[in-house]
Amino acid sequence: MTGPLTGEVSVPGDKSISHRAVMFGALAKGDTRIRGFLNGADCLSTIDCFCRLGIEIESYPSYGSAPGDVLVHGRGLHGLSPSSVYIDHENCVELYTGNSGTTTRIMSGILSAQSFSSILSGDASDNRRPMKRVTDPLKEMGADISSLNEDGCAPLLIRGNNPLKGIVYSSPVASAQVKSAILCAGLYADGPVKVYEPALSRDHTERMLKMFGAYVFQGRENGRWYASVKPCGDLYAPQIIVPGDISSAAFLIAAALMIKGSDILIRSVGINPTRSGILTVLKEMGADITIENITSVAEPYADLRVRYSDLHGTVIEGGIIPSLIDELLVIAVIASAAEGATVIRDAAELKVKESDRIALVTQNLQAMGADITATEDGFVINGPCRLHGAAIRTDGDHRIAMSFAVAGLAADGDTVIDAPACVSVSYPGFYDTIERLGGEAP
Ligand code: S3P
Repeated sequence: MTGPLTGEVSVPGDKSISHRAVMFGALAKGDTRIRGFLNGADCLSTIDCFCRLGIEIESYPSYGSAPGDVLVHGRGLHGLSPSSVYIDHENCVELYTGNSGTTTRIMSGILSAQSFSSILSGDASDNRRPMKRVTDPLKEMGADISSLNEDGCAPLLIRGNNPLKGIVYSSPVASAQVKSAILCAGLYADGPVKVYEPALSRDHTERMLKMFGAYVFQGRENGRWYASVKPCGDLYAPQIIVPGDISSAAFLIAAALMIKGSDILIRSVGINPTRSGILTVLKEMGADITIENITSVAEPYADLRVRYSDLHGTVIEGGIIPSLIDELLVIAVIASAAEGATVIRDAAELKVKESDRIALVTQNLQAMGADITATEDGFVINGPCRLHGAAIRTDGDHRIAMSFAVAGLAADGDTVIDAPACVSVSYPGFYDTIERLGGEAP
């Protein structure tokens, strides 16, 4: 167990918002300046894809100006033009999306509408993730998109020059990546697209497309959430301010709640209601978290003050799940320190993230001495328990690594994470921040 965490920090920019700012900036007319861009590996994959598509992108850290400033020189909705260096013998531009499911899925919507053909492929983890959820609706719109290995996963082959039509689509999963892929393709369709989802997923695409001048509508009808977009002539570049990523802040929040005497302030964290389920749940568990200085520029953000707290178990299920899907791992870690049972349900999506997160969280927390049982769609954790150090298996999943770095801070003895560097996917500098707050990074 490390000493208390104290002090003030900020976290890197929001990953979801950073991806979208580059994508829409590339498709807009004019220059989009992105302040607070996340220089994590996932968002750099998105930048790399657009560079291969002829978009000029300047990154200011490399020129010594404010960290995380990016300038995208947009070329308009029809301005993507693949660089010949990346075109294969079948005349497809090859795009590499690394570990980023968000890049693969949202790009598949954009690429379906282009006049050129492309192949989208990621790393071994990304190429195992289900893609039928985007290829089905895109095919319904008229796209020619297929899984190269016919296994429903990337690599995806997307043939160009297929006119797209507007559709009304009921998504079986509450997924912002699916919704965003369809909305992006909808910008090019012959009529509006409307996507219904069973629970509300993060709405960064809707908010940002509005900022770029698109006609976007969001609402609720007969108990279902929808988002729709009308095809548009042009997008226009605004300035984007990226708030701190609440999914990254979650690890610092967890550490402060679990380590006696901790008291930290995390500045400028995005608190979009479709992302901030973790704050609702932790407060329900007895967490001492105050939300200060709420501000809003397209996306709301605030400072979060977090102090060590005695916590109790809770039930997390239903419509709140999409708003904390990426935080459920670290919530499971926190639950091991809470009095009584915490039950997490309706989260089967965790199995198809960067790793099988239900299996890995269960295996790793059990190795540390916690009482946790995996279920079909979540976990049951009985606390409190005193964690002890263990060897942690991550399968290269950044959020598993950070969740168990936090568990390691709260545990007795040493915790060894098998691939600690994978945190750079979403949180470069994570271990430095822990050390600045007074913790001992693994
Ligand atoms: C994301 C949506 C979520 C989330 C992922 C980022 C996005 O995935 O888990 O980390 O930026 O749209 P799903 O759309 O698969 O739920």
